[in-house]
Amino acid sequence: MRLLVTGGAGFIGANFVHAVVRDGADDVTVLDALTYAGSRESLAPVRDRIRLVGGDITDAALVDRLVAESDAVVHFAAETHVDNALADPEPFLRSNVIGTFTILEAVRRHGVRLHHVSTDEVYGDLPLDGAQRFTESTPYNPSSPYSSTKAAADMLVRAWVRSYGVRATISNCSNNYGPYQHVEKFIPRQITNVLTGRRPKLYGSGANVRDWIHVDDHNSAVRRILADGQLGRTYLIGAGGERDNLSVLRTILRLMDRDPDDFDHVTDRAGHDLRYAIDASALTDELGWRPEHTDFEEGLRATIDWYRANESWWAPLKDTVEATYQERGQ
Ligand code: NAD
Ligand code: DAU
Repeated sequence: MRLLVTGGAGFIGANFVHAVVRDGADDVTVLDALTYAGSRESLAPVRDRIRLVGGDITDAALVDRLVAESDAVVHFAAETHVDNALADPEPFLRSNVIGTFTILEAVRRHGVRLHHVSTDEVYGDLPLDGAQRFTESTPYNPSSPYSSTKAAADMLVRAWVRSYGVRATISNCSNNYGPYQHVEKFIPRQITNVLTGRRPKLYGSGANVRDWIHVDDHNSAVRRILADGQLGRTYLIGAGGERDNLSVLRTILRLMDRDPDDFDHVTDRAGHDLRYAIDASALTDELGWRPEHTDFEEGLRATIDWYRANESWWAPLKDTVEATYQERGQ
């Protein structure tokens, strides 16, 4: 299968490309604008086995040409950081909404299969206390400029399926962790803060809950949906990994031999979603998918080891990211 992977130089996309190449895929093209969040180095282990095209998903002529040469598109490319969206939403509108529109028009013209990668944040948040979880029928209720643009993109995909018969599936996944995640995000930020002698930073009281999944499990689910998913359907991806931020931070500190109170409380995020939780039973029951990384502490230990061993990948990014956070009081 000729596969086009948008955003394949980012965190999840790069791990996806590594996995498909490891399993023998020999016709993979990555389209990535190599923004601050994308990196050629993330694709270094598979450099000779793929084609990397530096370009923007809003470039209709380029997208049209690459889609015409493909059998399927897996669409990861997006602006992804909530704090950046709060500071400057415009790039999120452009990449996430216009970019997805551009991909949709190309797959429509060429009859190419699309899998659109989205987030659980489109559903808004859940109360902190309670057992409620997001399902495929939870109403969309996004809170942030980031999640509202992802929701808009999902709506475009649904409309293009219904109106034009585009052959697409959508997945909405919870919080990923693992290798190659940008140091602006919660888990790598705290690990690399410790590794650079900084104190970890916790927004507010740390009571907010995220539903953590290892990136390889997210990607195995995407591949299962691409192979066996029902066209037009939305699948929620999650691995039952709910934890509050304070607990995650304390686990990181313990695994890195630090005092559990060795961190700073910083200014909370505006509109901070309280809790996400995924009910992935459609995916497990209908497609037989199961996560493999079910021991969160083990996954976190391996992730810490990866950041220790790969300082050359993240060190050039760290000072700029921390300077930006400092300006925001975070
Ligand atoms: P990331 O920020 O690490 O990577 C995004 C990639 O997209 C980068 O390589 C960047 O250069 C590229 N990109 C951005 N705008 C582009 C444009 N206009 N044209 C071409 N390339 C562009 O993001 P990630 O965490 O790997 O997320 C990938 C996808 O998964 C996103 O769609 C995101 O919404 C979704 N998602 C992420 C998570 C998570 O926890 N990280 C969870 C659920 C869903
Ligand atoms: O739920 C899926 C989403 O997960 C994806 O769609 C997003 O692209 C991805 O960035 C992630 O969004 P979050 O906002 O949940 O992730 P982030 O890593 O930014 O923050 C996780 C939690 O940790 C959140 O409650 C905010 C908090 N936090 C974050 C940072 C960076 C801190 O307490 N301190 C920090 O320094």
